[in-house]
Amino acid sequence: MDSPSRSGVFQKSTDGRMEEFAESISFDHELYAHDIAGSIAHAQMLETVGLLSPAESQSIQDALSEIRGDIEEWRLEFRVDLEDIHMHIEQSLIERLGDVGRKLHTGRSRNDQVSTDLRLWVRDAIDRVDRRLVELQRAFLGRCAADADVILPAYTHLQRAQPVLAPHYWLAYCEKFERDRGRLADCRKRVNQCSLGVAAVAGTSLPIDRHDVASRLGFDSVAANSMDVSSDRDFVLESAFALTLVAEHLSTWADEWILWSTVEFGFIRLPQEFCTGSSIMPQKVNPDALELTRGKTARVIGNLQTLLVLVKGLPLAYNRDLQEDKPALFDSFATVEACLEVAPPIVGGMQWNRSAISERLERGYLDATTLMEYMIRRGVPQRTAHHSVGQLVGLAIQKGARLAELPLDDFQQVCPGLDSGVYGVLGVENAVRAYTSYGSSAPREVEKQVARWKDKLGLSNL
Ligand code: ARG
Repeated sequence: MDSPSRSGVFQKSTDGRMEEFAESISFDHELYAHDIAGSIAHAQMLETVGLLSPAESQSIQDALSEIRGDIEEWRLEFRVDLEDIHMHIEQSLIERLGDVGRKLHTGRSRNDQVSTDLRLWVRDAIDRVDRRLVELQRAFLGRCAADADVILPAYTHLQRAQPVLAPHYWLAYCEKFERDRGRLADCRKRVNQCSLGVAAVAGTSLPIDRHDVASRLGFDSVAANSMDVSSDRDFVLESAFALTLVAEHLSTWADEWILWSTVEFGFIRLPQEFCTGSSIMPQKVNPDALELTRGKTARVIGNLQTLLVLVKGLPLAYNRDLQEDKPALFDSFATVEACLEVAPPIVGGMQWNRSAISERLERGYLDATTLMEYMIRRGVPQRTAHHSVGQLVGLAIQKGARLAELPLDDFQQVCPGLDSGVYGVLGVENAVRAYTSYGSSAPREVEKQVARWKDKLGLSNL
């Protein structure tokens, strides 16, 4: 059967190959609930402005609700000749209501319809991701109390650098995911503009009320230029980019923990419920959930690339190319949501191998920077102190000792003004206690930050 979008101008039917090639119902059925919500609001508006009678509007709304039920119960057959979700729903409406059903598409086109559906869909999807990000932040924060006394080596260049408190490490991830939440919230503002009623590209001569539809659908504002709206997919790209950063953050976390769970590091044990075995090597407990998190990030990056390339050469306004935005967009959301579903229990179930960590903290001269700062506080110029501590570390390496094990003589030879007070900043515990600056791993600062986050995430009673 020919699509209802083919008017009397056509003398030939669509080639079956064209139908297969052009269909989008196989993926845009995902939009069904939002399409129906948009159509109900549109019908209500048409009634308000007198383009539908109250009885017509009511029967359209009732039929649309029935169609939603039918789709949810798999009673509506999807067919390539009806192209997309919009045509399926409209066709089903016409089958149910005849001429009244034929009135729904008054004052709109599929161009503004698909844009509206997508905006409604992205708005919901952003809210879902946001809730999941909060859950993940809560998982990080939930570890802070029990891990208050755990000291970790912080790395730069993947070389042991300075000691930090484990809660400081947890909050580093809270910050990253908070920025992701901020980006999504900002993007949501531009998503939440009503495009319905710009019709195909130029608006309409019919007396529609776009502000009425916008408020019915919970949009904050009404997009102001019909040509812009017809072509605009910025909100799709923007949300795909915000998701890419979420995925990047998850991927770096996953990568870090894959390393930390190796025998070579031995810092952590991953919860076995999220690990898999090897079909040949019985001793293996593999970090597949983390590897897949890292691997799926490639898909999310690829989707962003697809979307960027998709729109780069399109003249104003709507072009059918835009139909290709959906698989990439839907996949990015589904993939990030899937990663965010497994991340919190992995965070919550991870166990530190405290002895391996503290044994490693003893080596690597993590207190060297604090020693240098101690010298600076006693008046030694930074460059001189940096050089002197380098000499002391060299000496300690020769002796196979920690800095705290060097006799005072050694310190005084390198830096004559030093006295036994120097031992007060040596060793990782002392080094951590010595931090004072805002945003550092100073115990008091970390405590304050934990309290701030608990407050923010509504976990103050933890
Ligand atoms: N399936 C189309 C899409 O996703 C809907 C809009 C079609 N508009 C048109 N004029 N052919 O973009």
